Amino acid sequence: NNPLVYGVRKGNPFLWGVMATGIRPMIFSASGLREGLAIDTNTGLITGVALKDGNYKVVLTATNKKGIDKKTITIKIGKDIALTPPMGWNSWNCWALAVDDAKVRDAARVMHEKLYHYGWNYVNIDDGWEATNRTEQGEILANEKFPDFKGLTDYIHSLGLKFGIYSSPGPTTCGGYIGSYQHEDIDAKTWASQGVDYLKYDYCGYSSVERNSEEKTIQEPYITMRKALDKVNRDIVYCIGYGAPNVWKWGEEAGGNQWRTTRDITDEWNVVTAIGCFQDVCAKSSAPGKYNDPDMLVVGTLGKPWGNIHNSYLTADEQYSHISLWSILSAPLLIGCDMANMDDFTLNLLTNNEVIAVDQDTIVSPAKKIIVHNGQIWYKKLYDGSYAVGLFQIDPYYIMWNQKEGEKVQRDLYDIKIDFSALGIKGRAKVRDLWRQKDLGIFDGSYQTKVPYHGVRFVKVTQDN
Ligand code: GAL
Repeated sequence: NNPLVYGVRKGNPFLWGVMATGIRPMIFSASGLREGLAIDTNTGLITGVALKDGNYKVVLTATNKKGIDKKTITIKIGKDIALTPPMGWNSWNCWALAVDDAKVRDAARVMHEKLYHYGWNYVNIDDGWEATNRTEQGEILANEKFPDFKGLTDYIHSLGLKFGIYSSPGPTTCGGYIGSYQHEDIDAKTWASQGVDYLKYDYCGYSSVERNSEEKTIQEPYITMRKALDKVNRDIVYCIGYGAPNVWKWGEEAGGNQWRTTRDITDEWNVVTAIGCFQDVCAKSSAPGKYNDPDMLVVGTLGKPWGNIHNSYLTADEQYSHISLWSILSAPLLIGCDMANMDDFTLNLLTNNEVIAVDQDTIVSPAKKIIVHNGQIWYKKLYDGSYAVGLFQIDPYYIMWNQKEGEKVQRDLYDIKIDFSALGIKGRAKVRDLWRQKDLGIFDGSYQTKVPYHGVRFVKVTQDN
């Protein structure tokens, strides 16, 4: 299930591996690895340091008692990283400031056991990890909830996973902890030495420094941290947090790999659609290594309103819609739930390899939207020339005040139709249901299907020659 490309910078520590489901034991190999990189045949982890720039085709192989499977991917050693959207977990949506060592270890263990094989590999701590004061040398260290930070990061890496952290360009973070203001270089250095692979840098506290927060002044502290990250020998994915105005116009220039385009998400259909359904406005800014971030996933057990751990308030169909739309948007996929108590439905939502492949598609083609009666059609082109198409039944005329009201209104199935000409396909096309992983047949000119209330039919459309 590995994405077809993986980007790294020369000279920096390399950690990636074969992501394959199936019966264990499994033996792995990788042919075509360049000098400096080697695979552990038992775990499938590739480690080392890439020594020379270039694009290298590597054949990954997995063998078990049932047989053998292979996939050719490209390792790109150069200046760009995160060539497909980051996939992982972030502590915020469930634990907020109550995150601690045990919760993060749980997340890593469950990701390793159940999700890694489908492509999930970042374990990210959000706000609430920081000590009250810096050390005498000016370093930012973790608070008492993380008694062995180094042990924790080593544990995460030992599972083949990556480790993410959170800070702010301001003197304080959104949660009131210390931020990186005027300590950017030392923080980047500390994080590199602790093995940080991902930084979410969240504006909030900087508004106390720059009271005139506008596009240009918001951008400045992000550039400062970009420069600091460039000085360390580690590939650190850089997330411009907060949902600053028009961030998609300057996020790339500020050196971000992803930028939050919105306010905080919650597990309410109104909010998910208010966020998701305007992402066509910024879609053109996405490219490999540069993603609009419509915020984290709200599936599984969540914590907001804080102190009330509950199963996502989204209905099952709304959750299918959420994951489908985020995949079409090439959004970073960050699970926000209590990983230790993940139910089968949520696990199933997060481990459909054909759906994930849409998110991880290597050309990161901008998503497009067509408004239709009773809903919206979202689509994007995929690397093989086919299209991922989501036919969504979205309340067309009004926004519900609350989730409960949604449950009262009629739950009809509505017909939604996609004309292939809108995709630039003439004549016949093959249609495959991605959630069900089932070919639906060959259709002439268009495909029409019934879509459940707030639900989706998520299909792949391929010209039939
Ligand atoms: C908010 C951010 C959330 C979370 C929180 C932490 O600004 O949007 O995703 O990171 O800060 O305090």
